[in-house]
Amino acid sequence: MFICLCKGVTDREIREAVSDGARSWREVREVTGCSSQCGKCACVGKAIARDAIARE
Ligand code: FES
Repeated sequence: MFICLCKGVTDREIREAVSDGARSWREVREVTGCSSQCGKCACVGKAIARDAIARE
């Protein structure tokens, strides 16, 4: 499912970024580009990133 329409980032890509070593929402943003434009996806993107980090 697309989370960030501006950058075309999916929930799966966010989880993959965490699997690949991102350990904070900031790092996930840097890797995926999520929330780097309009910012509307920030809340959901952050929640998914936190969930994925908690599962690591
Ligand atoms: Fe993610 Fe706009 S939807 S920056």
